[in-house]
Amino acid sequence: MLSYRHSFHAGNFADVLKHIILIQILEYLKRKDKPFSYIDTHAGPGKYDLSSDYALKNREFDSGIAKLLKRSDLPECVAHYVSLVKRFNSPGKLIRYPGSPLIAKQLLRDKDHLYLFELHNTEIEILKTVADKDKRIKVFHADGLKNWLGLLPPTERRGLVLIDPSYEIKSDYQQVVETLAAMYKRFAIGTYALWYPVIDRSRNQKLEHAIQASGIKNVQLFELGINADSNAHGMTASGVIVINPPWTLAAEMKLVLPWLAGVLGDNGEGFYRILTLVSDD
Ligand SMILES: C[S@@+](CC[C@H](N)C(=O)[O-])C[C@H]1O[C@@H](n2cnc3c(N)ncnc32)[C@H](O)[C@@H]1O
Repeated sequence: MLSYRHSFHAGNFADVLKHIILIQILEYLKRKDKPFSYIDTHAGPGKYDLSSDYALKNREFDSGIAKLLKRSDLPECVAHYVSLVKRFNSPGKLIRYPGSPLIAKQLLRDKDHLYLFELHNTEIEILKTVADKDKRIKVFHADGLKNWLGLLPPTERRGLVLIDPSYEIKSDYQQVVETLAAMYKRFAIGTYALWYPVIDRSRNQKLEHAIQASGIKNVQLFELGINADSNAHGMTASGVIVINPPWTLAAEMKLVLPWLAGVLGDNGEGFYRILTLVSDD
């Protein structure tokens, strides 16, 4: 039984990084006229009400998107992300926050396809309303780590898979690497983005080593922290591991991550990591 609800966390500093990277990859795929598929293995409800009790419990959006809305010096890719969030809100207000499915729905073209997986019985019903009879979108009330086989390789031979688990179950760390390796075997030229939290750094080290040992090539890691590592403070940082990233992504992140670390970091503790986990050869 899943208890995690992303509504508690919507728009926080981790969503900021994840959604900026998601937008950058989708925009890069759109540079070519050829269609592509977007697969979201952990779609969540697709949209969030920041005036709900869930979101207001810890007001995590205050340390993420809300801080960015106050700035007039946004780097270009942050400005793109912020303008997308603004599309769902009246001027000067922050009530609605788009999840990864809604961001992709906004950006994809008529010829592209979205495949969205969600297991939670309540979240799936909200997600269906986001999909709303859109012919490009298929929603599956199913395990996204297990039911993707028929979707890879996509008929277009181009695509992005976003893997964004809640890591409620410790075995998720191992399962995501096994899933990525199996997906990569079927579709080695695809782009994959794996989100991860930093709660206990030793788990991240294991995750990075497992990816390095998996046989997957061309892997980059982008991480943003708002507090120094500490096992006592919940999530202090998060990152996205990208397989076959757009060649433009690392350069963009080199501009954006230092800026985000400065703006979102707590008491000057913000930090970032950009590294090549596995090279291309
Ligand atoms: C972090 S949230 C997703 C957030 C979303 N990707 C976004 O950026 O807006 C993770 C979601 O995955 C769902 N979930 C957990 N395990 C799953 C699985 N094996 N397959 C599909 N969904 C799963 C949870 O119910 C939760 O809604």
